[in-house]
Amino acid sequence: MSRSSPAVADRLELGRHILDLADDLARWSEQSGALTCTFFSAAHRAVANQLREWFAAAGLNAGIDAAGNVVGRLPGAPPGTKTLIIGSHYDTVRNAGKYDGRLGILCGLAALESLRDARLPFAVELIAFSEEEGVRFGTPYLGSGAIAGRLDPSIMDTRDLDGFRLGDVIAAAGYDPGRVPAIARRPEDVLAYLEVHIEQGPVLLNGDLPVGVVTAIAGSIRHALTVEGVAGHAGTVPMDARHDALLAAAEIALFVERRAWAEPGLVGTVGRFGVPDGAINVIPERCELTLDVRSQDDGTAERAVADILAESEAICKRRGVRLSARELLRAKAVPCAPHLQEMFAGSIARAGLPVKRLASGAGHDAVAFDGFTDIGVLFVRCGNGGISHNPLEMVTAEDAGVAAQILRDTLVHMTD
Ligand code: HGY
Ligand code: MN
Ligand code: MN
Repeated sequence: MSRSSPAVADRLELGRHILDLADDLARWSEQSGALTCTFFSAAHRAVANQLREWFAAAGLNAGIDAAGNVVGRLPGAPPGTKTLIIGSHYDTVRNAGKYDGRLGILCGLAALESLRDARLPFAVELIAFSEEEGVRFGTPYLGSGAIAGRLDPSIMDTRDLDGFRLGDVIAAAGYDPGRVPAIARRPEDVLAYLEVHIEQGPVLLNGDLPVGVVTAIAGSIRHALTVEGVAGHAGTVPMDARHDALLAAAEIALFVERRAWAEPGLVGTVGRFGVPDGAINVIPERCELTLDVRSQDDGTAERAVADILAESEAICKRRGVRLSARELLRAKAVPCAPHLQEMFAGSIARAGLPVKRLASGAGHDAVAFDGFTDIGVLFVRCGNGGISHNPLEMVTAEDAGVAAQILRDTLVHMTD
């Protein structure tokens, strides 16, 4: 029996199996002692190959596309029927938890494994997306964006912090970057998009609930900021003659925090902050920082970013340094389709569980399908206070089993 073919009968056994697979995938990392798996690293390739093997062993027609997505298609769909896409991502942030993205893939695998002979009246594709976090090349949703036909060809010229070009990285792994546009699905061929994902927050934990139905995904605006000042001798340049790039950036970061506090539901984060080639005895000439601003309300996020950029300019002008800003992402808040929310809710109710609806502060691959097809997202409870993007990320076997069975039930009842 394949590693990915558990008896679906026992929820706990199913969940334990799913968590075992997540443990297996966490063996591959770019750094020892922590889980980091970013776009087309050797670890990323190993995980993709392992997933393709498990997809095939589960009875799916499996392959890896030019964007590094692992795609498994359930055989036996009636010809000419639309395709339901189930997906999530297998890349990770640095020093990540084991379940962000991957739990959704593995719950989808378990659900489809149990439906391999079900002959659903529509086609189903399980897709493990190659890049959702945007860690290596700064731009998120590369995998799901390719499937939704949303990638601008210029993305291939993006370079990572070591100067590697995105298109070259794909080619070096033996794939043809020129074939990425061809993997885009046509909206008219897609029935809907469903994603199972850990909540990455405390709401389900505090409510003592294993799963919840997502109502909407927060919009997010991301920028890369660069402050350029004047390098100088730490010992000889008087304080009133300095143009210190780092201190201007530090003021900007503190303003981001102040501005985010100003409105409920608004969050602002400076996730990366650094002085390239800095030295202990040199006044920082250049400081690079990132900006991530989110809200369930698009206008709130847009106004906050406008204020932050304006204040950043004022800070830099006052300090005699130069600011440049590059927008990396402008994702609107994305509603989940009411009928798909109802489908998940119906399955949760059939399982005898309370139905909780909640919004998502985190972005998900579902965002890439906004305006392309209807989207539905099922959240799974996180332990350890709901912590995520942290190795303390935690999910119980029971909850993983519940999520896989809710997904399975939703697919079966999509025939209704
Ligand atoms: O950043 C996010 O919200 C997601 O984890 N990529
Ligand atoms: Mn994440
Ligand atoms: Mn995620």
